[in-house]
Amino acid sequence: MKLVVALAGASGSIYAARFLRALSEIPGESYFIVSPPSLRIFSEEYETSVSKPEDVLDFIQTKWKPELKHKFHIRNFHDIGSDIASGSNVWDAMVVVPCSMKTIASINAGLTENLIERAADVSLKERRRLIVVPRETPYNRVHLRNLLSLDEAGAIILPASPGFYQIPKTLDDLGDFISGRIFNLLGVDSELYPKWVG
Ligand SMILES: Cc1cc2nc3c(=O)[nH]c(=O)nc-3n(C[C@H](O)[C@H](O)[C@H](O)COP(=O)(O)O)c2cc1C
Repeated sequence: MKLVVALAGASGSIYAARFLRALSEIPGESYFIVSPPSLRIFSEEYETSVSKPEDVLDFIQTKWKPELKHKFHIRNFHDIGSDIASGSNVWDAMVVVPCSMKTIASINAGLTENLIERAADVSLKERRRLIVVPRETPYNRVHLRNLLSLDEAGAIILPASPGFYQIPKTLDDLGDFISGRIFNLLGVDSELYPKWVG
């Protein structure tokens, strides 16, 4: 499995952190991009201080000590000349978790001013799976229009709306529910949340 994994600046760092924790234990490789606002929000939500992508990966490794089977290739948010700015490089899917309304709007408008937006644009044009995990509440009509339009362009909208029917005990359980749903869409069967048995 080869992914592009990006963190944009929305609340919900727990979804990124729990997804990255689980992904670390899955053989494969990912290009990894974080936006400056996502670092600020991650720092606030985990009451820590991360200022670069390496810090996010180190935080996850220190906190949960996952078995490292996945290779992360860090790419600079501002480097629109990066290898993954081009469709000539191939990846299976891209995940933006969490995804801000600003990045949703940019991808929808075809604006590619940073590497997250450019790699998402490439994913769409190359017909590769693009999964975005938006977080905002309430939605205004601009958000709703952009989300619908992005769905029509081929992206998968996976809102940061965890279910409660699996009786979560911890916040991590909520993060794992969303992570598990992302893995479902990537074709990876995970044990991150109890399946509904009817
Ligand atoms: C503490 C904090 C929380 C935020 N939460 C959200 C959010 O949940 N959803 C959202 O769309 N924007 C949120 N924002 C605003 C975005 O971070 C802002 O629009 C930023 O420009 C997004 O840029 P990026 O998508 O390139 O990271 C938040 C900002 C801060 C500082």
